[in-house]
Amino acid sequence: MKILIAYYSRTGITKKVALLISKKLKAQCDEIIDKKDRSGALGWIIAGKDATQKRTTEINHKKNPKNYDMIIIGGPVWSWDVTPAVRTYVTNNKKSLKATRVAFFATQGSSGAETKFESMRKILGKKPIATMTINGKDFKDEEYKKKIDEFITTVNF
Ligand SMILES: Cc1cc2nc3c(=O)[nH]c(=O)nc-3n(C[C@H](O)[C@H](O)[C@H](O)COP(=O)(O)O)c2cc1C
Repeated sequence: MKILIAYYSRTGITKKVALLISKKLKAQCDEIIDKKDRSGALGWIIAGKDATQKRTTEINHKKNPKNYDMIIIGGPVWSWDVTPAVRTYVTNNKKSLKATRVAFFATQGSSGAETKFESMRKILGKKPIATMTINGKDFKDEEYKKKIDEFITTVNF
């Protein structure tokens, strides 16, 4: 099975999870780049506002999801919702994503992943085969590694 992990990460936390999943599944990664500057305090405030207002953005990414049997889409939770970059990725690639198997994962401080997954499901018009949420505290006691192993078992059947 050819698997792609498409992810957006502002500060590297989601990227760390995406790279670990890709290593374990021997899957390819496609980093989604948000062309809007999200750095610094102002970037943070605008990011939260854009997510709340369910805005899309301009993105870059390299791989075509059409060429894969399963796409795992990852990103952080912003304002209890999906980031503009992931919203744009799902919207732009809806046709290819609807034709294949999809799974979602999110990293977050502590809450909001469920409403984020619901937003993604609504945009796509399709349920993921699995979801995984990694909380900030999961990195302290290596809990994230257990969650990743469970997620991999669910998606890789
Ligand atoms: C604009 C903004 C809004 C956020 N909103 C939430 C939130 O609603 N709930 C939460 O638990 N964490 C929230 N966070 C924290 C991030 O989801 C968390 O730190 C995530 O792991 C960052 O991933 P990244 O390093 O891949 O960007 C927010 C972060 C940012 C920048």
